[in-house]
Amino acid sequence: MQSFKKYYPDEFKKLKHAGKISSQCLDLVEEKIKPGITTEEIDKICNDFLKKNKAVSAPLLYRGFPKSICTSVNHVVCHGIPSNKTLNEGDIVNVDVTSYIDGFHGDTSRTFCVGKVSVKAKNLIDITKEALQRAIKILKPGLNLGDIGHEIQSFVESNGYSVVRDFCGHGIGREFHEEPNILHYGKKGSGPKIHEGMVFTIEPMINSGKYETKLLNDGWTAVTKDKSLSAQFEHTVGITNNGYEIFTLS
Ligand code: MF3
Ligand code: CO
Ligand code: CO
Repeated sequence: MQSFKKYYPDEFKKLKHAGKISSQCLDLVEEKIKPGITTEEIDKICNDFLKKNKAVSAPLLYRGFPKSICTSVNHVVCHGIPSNKTLNEGDIVNVDVTSYIDGFHGDTSRTFCVGKVSVKAKNLIDITKEALQRAIKILKPGLNLGDIGHEIQSFVESNGYSVVRDFCGHGIGREFHEEPNILHYGKKGSGPKIHEGMVFTIEPMINSGKYETKLLNDGWTAVTKDKSLSAQFEHTVGITNNGYEIFTLS
């Protein structure tokens, strides 16, 4: 039987601290986002906040990533690089923050509306957020990894949206990305079982069009192939003896 890394209560405590800082960072971003702000300015706000809280950004220089956070606008699926481009009324933007403090990581993202957005964009965001919540709610020891993907995929597709296949959630803890991969699509009862002490992210990327993505020439930015809108939410969770704990709450 396949078995994954197990974290213990003293480690859960530190993971919760890292998670809280990342989540509070997003609370601050939520206050600041409005038409006219650049994604580079959001990057600075986050980097300053992490510093103030004695944390560092895990993405910064991770495999050469040049900034402290990811900012993914409209048809960008994930790993958008903050730049001097301004956000405009009607845009949607995912901000993904991973803090590293006292040896542990906290990884979380939310998709925000810039000013007033279309009903279509708002609905995509709502469905994506609910997909993550539904997946978290079923977590407990003995669940199969495929059940997580099934929960997300069945809900999302029944609402007419698609689940990105090219990126997934991941184990996390002392390392930024650990085993196993957490797929956001799948079959009930498939895959290895989860156990107490496991820590991983769930971070569904949901498209209003088809699920295919393509990578831009910068080597990071992933976009929808059909240029449709994409949204994402992410939490870091830990499996307890009878359920789960969300580490990335503010
Ligand atoms: N935070 C992203 C995740 O959810 C990873 C970003 S890696 C980077 O896994 F290098 F692109 F920043
Ligand atoms: Co992640
Ligand atoms: Co992330």
